[in-house]
This record gives sequence, C-alpha cells and structure tokens, in this order.
Amino acid sequence: MAEKFIENTRVVDLQPLGAANFLLTLEAPLISRAATAGQFIQVAVPRCSVLWRRPFSINDVSTENGLVEILFQILGRGTRALAEVKRGDTLNVIGPLGNGFRVESTVRRALIVAGGLGIAPFPFLLKRLGEASIPSVVLYGVGRREQLCCVDRLRERAEVYLCTLDGSAGEQGTVVDLLEKHLRENPPIPDLHLFTCGPTPMMRKVQTIAEKHQLSGQASLETVMACGFGACVGCAVPMRHPQPGVQEYYLACKDGPVFNLEEIIIHD
Ligand SMILES: Cc1cc2nc3c(=O)[nH]c(=O)nc-3n(C[C@H](O)[C@H](O)[C@H](O)COP(=O)(O)OP(=O)(O)OC[C@H]3O[C@@H](n4cnc5c(N)ncnc54)[C@H](O)[C@@H]3O)c2cc1C
Ligand code: FES
Repeated sequence: MAEKFIENTRVVDLQPLGAANFLLTLEAPLISRAATAGQFIQVAVPRCSVLWRRPFSINDVSTENGLVEILFQILGRGTRALAEVKRGDTLNVIGPLGNGFRVESTVRRALIVAGGLGIAPFPFLLKRLGEASIPSVVLYGVGRREQLCCVDRLRERAEVYLCTLDGSAGEQGTVVDLLEKHLRENPPIPDLHLFTCGPTPMMRKVQTIAEKHQLSGQASLETVMACGFGACVGCAVPMRHPQPGVQEYYLACKDGPVFNLEEIIIHD
C-alpha cells in the first residue's frame, strides 16, 4: 500500500477565485512527494464543530517547494470554516489517500471531461500527462463564467475548450453537449483515454458516451465520505458484476476515488 502521512501543514496561501471557490496552498512536504494525481487528502477543519475530516482532491503539487494545493467550494460548515483560515495557520492533514488516475503505457492521447468543481484533480493529472509527453484536450463546463477555475493553468498544459450553461464563456450548453460535439468533429482514435470528474448525472452520461464510442476511461467519484478509511461503508459504489443478479460494492475511499468507467455503476 502506498505511504500516507499525518502532517501538520502550514497555510501558505488562500486565494478566493470567485463564486465561493478557493485555492488553498499548504506546506506539506511529505504528502507532496508521495502523491499521485487523482488522490485526495483529508483535512481536519479548525475552529469548527464538524466531527469528520473533509476530503479534497489534490489539485496540484510542487515537490520542489513541498506544496500541496486544493481547490474547494463553500458547501456547508466545514468548507465555510476552511475559507476563513489565515496564512500561517496550521491544518492537520492525512494523505495522500485513495487510488489515483492510472496512466497506462497504452495511452497516447488524453481527453479530460470536467464539470464544475470536478476540474479539481486535473491540473495535477495534466502535469503528469505532460511529463509522459501525452497530448491532452480538456473539455470543461460550468454554470456561468465566474465559476471557472484554474483556466490559465489548464491552458499551459493542454488544449482547453470551455462551455457555460448561460453562454457567458465558451460554448453555450453542458459539457456533455461539448463532448458529443468534440467526438463528432474528432472521431476517437483507439489509443484515446478519457478521464472524467464532476456531478454524478454528468459522469453517468459520459460513461454512456464512452461505451457508445468504445472508449476506455476513468472517473473520479466524489461520494460523500465519513471515516475515509474503509470502516463506515458510507461510500459504497456498486460494481458491475459479470454474474447477473449479484451486486457487490467498492468503497470509494479505499478502492477509489478513481475507477475504470467500465467497472462501476454510476447512479444519478
Ligand atoms: C474523494 C473526494 C474528493 C473531493 N474533492 C473535492 C474538491 O477537490 N473540492 C471540493 O470543493 N470538494 C471536494 N469534495 C467534496 C467535499 O469533501 C465536500 O464538499 C465537503 O466535505 C463538504 O463539507 P462541509 O462541511 O462544507 O459540508 P457539509 O455540511 O458536510 O454538507 C453540506 C452539503 O453538502 C453535501 N455534501 C457533502 N459532501 C458532499 C460530497 N462529497 N458531494 C456532494 N455533496 C456533498 C451534503 O450532503 C450537504 O447537503 C470531495 C469529496 C470526495 C469524497
Ligand atoms: S468513507 Fe467510511 S468506508 Fe469509505
């Protein structure tokens, strides 16, 4: 099993990105060196009564400077408290956790499909794909322009196409519409591999499209987690079982959060 650490990390920066999104930079040398793209960290939220640590995808790392970044959105009590941390504060963090994206030697091109905060794990993945000289296209959709995050960083590492529901940036429509259009205009080649993260209904549609085009792919699931280490069974993901009538489950915190698209059932 890959090494994981409990680190008292120092808050280096907290940048508001608009639309209640924040980029948090932590000094976490052990985690930054051990992490692979698609893994996550569990953050103990300070000055807040929430019991469980909160999980966040690793957005990017700088191994030279020992930094780990996460991109988060204020949803409830934990993330609201996290948005109030100050430079120099200490946050206790466990990581890197879970199984990240696998970049097999057969992958020659990457197609990334991200919806909303589902963009979070992809700057780190793009760094790894770049190191492996794998060209990447990113299709990224949000509701409106202010919700876009890390676009400059994405553009440094990939060809990026944007869409918004209200048409305020990129094409108007959903990222699923954008994916269908992209595949119509660029018929998939056999060594193309798809990576996706976003709202569950979006990923279910991406899974259907991948099957239609016989595309291999991986999805990062953000199921609600409590314990984060396989004890509470709160993060069960139904697996596709070869035997009809048999239902077995993966645990997103231990077996995921990244799964091969063809191995899981994505429920709306
Ligand atoms: C592996 C993994 C990676 C994640 N990565 C990121 C990330 O990079 N950036 C980010 O902003 N968030 C991410 N999340 C979601 C994040 O953990 C939750 O938003 C956070 O725990 C909410 O905490 P809270 O105390 O603010 O909200 P709570 O008070 O716990 O909940 C507020 C509301 O949000 C809902 N909620 C809580 N957790 C989730 C969830 N996982 N998915 C959907 N709805 C949820 C609750 O049902 C409730 O309605 C990730 C989750 C997982 C499991
Ligand atoms: S979160 Fe408890 S088993 Fe996965």
